[in-house]
Amino acid sequence: MSNESLANLLKEERRFAPPAELAASANVTADAYAQASEDRLAFWAEQARRLSWAVEPTETLDWSNPPFAKWFADGKLNVAYNCVDRHVEAGNGDRVAIHFEGEPGDSRAITYAQLKDEVSKAANALQQLGVAKGDRVAVYLPMIPEAVVAMLACARIGAAHSVVFGGFSADAVASRIKDADAKLVITADGGYRRGKPSALKPAIDEALTKVDGVENVLVVRRTGEEVAWTEGRDVWWHELVDAQSAEHAPEAHDAEQPLFILYTSGTTGKPKGILHTSGGYLTQASFTHNAVFDLKPATDVYWCTADIGWVTGHSYIVYGPLSNGATQVIYEGTPDTPHQGRMFEIVQKYGVTILYTAPTLIRTWMKWGDDIPAQFDLSSLRVLGSVGEPINPEAWVWYREHIGAGKTPIVDTWWQTETGAIMISPLPGVTETKPGSAQRALPGIAATVVDDEAREVPDGSGGYLVLTEPWPSMLRTIWGDDQRYVDTYWSRFEGRYFAGDGAKKDEDGDIWLLGRVDDVMLVSGHNISTTEVESALVGHPAVAESAVVGATDATTGQAIVAFVILRGTAADSEELIADLRNHVGRTLGPIAKPKQIKVVSELPKTRSGKIMRRLLRDIAEGREVGDTTTLADSTVMNLIQSQLPAAG
Ligand code: WT7
Repeated sequence: MSNESLANLLKEERRFAPPAELAASANVTADAYAQASEDRLAFWAEQARRLSWAVEPTETLDWSNPPFAKWFADGKLNVAYNCVDRHVEAGNGDRVAIHFEGEPGDSRAITYAQLKDEVSKAANALQQLGVAKGDRVAVYLPMIPEAVVAMLACARIGAAHSVVFGGFSADAVASRIKDADAKLVITADGGYRRGKPSALKPAIDEALTKVDGVENVLVVRRTGEEVAWTEGRDVWWHELVDAQSAEHAPEAHDAEQPLFILYTSGTTGKPKGILHTSGGYLTQASFTHNAVFDLKPATDVYWCTADIGWVTGHSYIVYGPLSNGATQVIYEGTPDTPHQGRMFEIVQKYGVTILYTAPTLIRTWMKWGDDIPAQFDLSSLRVLGSVGEPINPEAWVWYREHIGAGKTPIVDTWWQTETGAIMISPLPGVTETKPGSAQRALPGIAATVVDDEAREVPDGSGGYLVLTEPWPSMLRTIWGDDQRYVDTYWSRFEGRYFAGDGAKKDEDGDIWLLGRVDDVMLVSGHNISTTEVESALVGHPAVAESAVVGATDATTGQAIVAFVILRGTAADSEELIADLRNHVGRTLGPIAKPKQIKVVSELPKTRSGKIMRRLLRDIAEGREVGDTTTLADSTVMNLIQSQLPAAG
């Protein structure tokens, strides 16, 4: 990382101490860091005791065959029992587990006792369909409670789920069903998106013309729209599941029993089936959810706005919150249906206390205007979280001011599908936060920044983020491809996990994430991160969002091309573009001035909110736009192209 760009990021000097009241009653205090650094494995062994084990583990970590880890390997547990039954047994059966809010405005409250019945019935139904321990089940559902029930039913019987995001195409579903060799698919007629029913089952029907091995399709009725039906294969959820007994004995599974496979968004190459197992995964999902959000299960109302189709939904809608007995909101739809205040209205309606969302949504709210959240009572909020990409300081400060009333702590949580759970984050009752920094590895986690030669960089320098010790919720392998697991994550730096992200350590040793290493540009011999230029642009009052790419350039190697979305009141003009270029130059140095700035109304994003810079690079380099199948909205690229002058 070049020194001039490093200096810039470290210029962010705003600091926010934890609220005294929160600090005084925090679930986790500064002692946890000391305790974990004294004996990391003892620390995790203690965290494993958060769970109910049928057979308590005596082993903590087996690292005898690195990088293939086993955690708590001689322990046995049932993950679904931990997420549901034990709360009912502890007398909390009447506590609401899920406040479901459908996009059309229908709502349902489901208590832990009801969830236990639903999961038990679904587990019985899966077994009746011949699904057994060790099988794989593909789940292709909208954000409805049955998605949670389906996942927990799989966990209960020891079948691994493979949730495929509802926005993926038939081809994407087919390749994932095939790779995991799924026996059953659970889907729905459709869900509601942007104010109308959006069909799901046709994609499954099409996918199943391309792959073999799926014996049944279990179909939830959500929209009531007409669906094609294959007799003998398709089964209605309400006919099969509702008729089952609500008694189902949870079998004790090995700690290393596969829990799920989740395919990473795959910006390039064949998607990787990330494999997670049971005991270690649940330990870290549960610990981090308790520690990072300071969850008080009897009084908090938690809301994670992610979709269940990506890992945030797995760990921080299903396994973390439910293992902790939380009350949470699940919302089916889009943030601007029927109006741009919908999400704030939901916070107000349920008295949400903890909100976990992504920078892309925060910047969208900024773009829509400060007056919208101001119309709602958000005073219940006490902790705000961010995940998915680096959050630029301006968005961080806006989030705190306009959503958090200028007083809630913000936890910027760094992790990945592969890490299974949060790895680097402030603790809300402990950390003095810095806008834009994820700050420190959590207790029990070892992260650092190294240079090209794997040498740890000193404070004040940048390089590659690595994890130096195994952790309980780490991926165990890439499904069916151990060699790719070794090559992708453990070969770049001997004995260390390579995360693929650039990062810096500031003078205090706090970590600032800089985005994917693939997104670092090389301009006239200087490394410049796309994140920093984007952050500088969003720091200008006229800019709501930006995406920056390096386009091949005959003179400078790569040239910086920026795509920007303007805030509501700003108008596109030559003066504004010149002003933006100068603003970046002043903030980061002249080398970082974008060669071109293009004003657009949308950016291409995956369903998990990540900007697909690869597609923008295609535009910037004047190529045919590549594969758009993982885009959240496949029409965006056409829209962007129609907004740009032809050629250049
Ligand atoms: C990549 C992982 C973690 C669940 C959602 C994404 C980026 C994630 C942050 C953050 C900076 C972040 C990284 C990482 N990322 N959180 N707080 N600050 N970058 O899961 O799809 O597996 O993506 O998301 O680049 O490697 P994923």
